[in-house]
Amino acid sequence: MVKQVRLIDYPAGRAARDFWSFSGDALPALDENQIKVRIDWVSVDPGMSGWITDKPSYMPPVKPGEVMRAFGVGEVVETRSERFKVGDWVTGFLGLQTEAIFAEKAVRKIDVGQVPPQLFLSGLGMTGYTAYFGMMDIGQPQESDTVVVSAASGAVGGIAAQLAKQAGARVVGIAGGPIKCAYLTDELGLDAAIDYKAGSIGAALDAAVPAGIDLYFDNVGGEILDAVLDRMNYRGRIVVCGSISQYGDFAAARGPAGYMRVVTHSLKMQGFTMRDYMHRVPEAFETLAQGYASGSLKFREHVLEGLETFPDAYEMLFDGRNHGKLLIDIRGDH
Ligand SMILES: NC(=O)c1ccc[n+]([C@@H]2O[C@H](COP(=O)([O-])OP(=O)(O)OC[C@H]3O[C@@H](n4cnc5c(N)ncnc54)[C@H](OP(=O)(O)O)[C@@H]3O)[C@@H](O)[C@H]2O)c1
Repeated sequence: MVKQVRLIDYPAGRAARDFWSFSGDALPALDENQIKVRIDWVSVDPGMSGWITDKPSYMPPVKPGEVMRAFGVGEVVETRSERFKVGDWVTGFLGLQTEAIFAEKAVRKIDVGQVPPQLFLSGLGMTGYTAYFGMMDIGQPQESDTVVVSAASGAVGGIAAQLAKQAGARVVGIAGGPIKCAYLTDELGLDAAIDYKAGSIGAALDAAVPAGIDLYFDNVGGEILDAVLDRMNYRGRIVVCGSISQYGDFAAARGPAGYMRVVTHSLKMQGFTMRDYMHRVPEAFETLAQGYASGSLKFREHVLEGLETFPDAYEMLFDGRNHGKLLIDIRGDH
């Protein structure tokens, strides 16, 4: 029997704990050009909040009753495809489920010979690619830059901050709590860390970046974005990667209060999703894989066990209980 997590209905706000059901189904026989995959790891992402609303987003919503969309990695256990043989490993939107049938075009083959498979959900997957293209292609950090990254000890932020540091910039990370801040300076080697939960973010920025900010990699939006905007230097750049403080009710999300600074200081502010960059994934993969192999890039993971942890896992992202790429190891569910 295959176990799945399904969306019951669209939650009205961010709290979604009661909106999931657990089901068990038998799978049908394979059609031509299909494969059956045993899924071992699934990824829990802030972007899921945009998939469980009926408001238009960058992807179609998951419909009530459907298996929840999630990135995953797994092994091909049965095949009627010439592209895949039993034992191949794949990644893609495999969903919150232990096993499923996919069209051969719906998944991507991965080589897990050298690295653990779950890395394709963190540093060597969409998380790493997002950090790479957001920081290196849009942000383009320079040696002379002061760079600020929010949610800096998180999955995307941690990699983006390290990439900016490797480019020679002075890098300041913003995170919640002393443990995450110590991680930023002691483990990732950032120049300073700001605990935004410890007091005034404006005062902390004034102390950490007295000469202003040239590049801001924004993962959170809201008040932190306002405080950073007030301190952006002339011709500064803001990479809008995400806005997690505003997730839950996208219709009510508020924009930056200090946006006139964009005009007065000739700032550039650009958002993106990986849809813009899928054709360049090999470039990101090469840099990230080299960084991982040499030890110059650290990919932190936060691992939970079992599909039943998902309702709590999803909420962890919004109250900061995760520290690193949030993954669920579902091997015990098979
Ligand atoms: N553009 C894209 O294609 C793309 C792709 C992937 C992810 N993203 C975005 O990147 C951001 C980070 O995602 P991730 O997967 O790397 O997750 P993550 O950073 O590992 O986890 C989310 C973290 O956000 C912080 N946070 C939550 N609520 C906050 C708030 N109100 N104010 C400040 N910080 C808050 C928490 O850390 P603290 O303990 O530090 O508060 C939490 O641990 C999200 O905005 C996500 O939507 C964008």
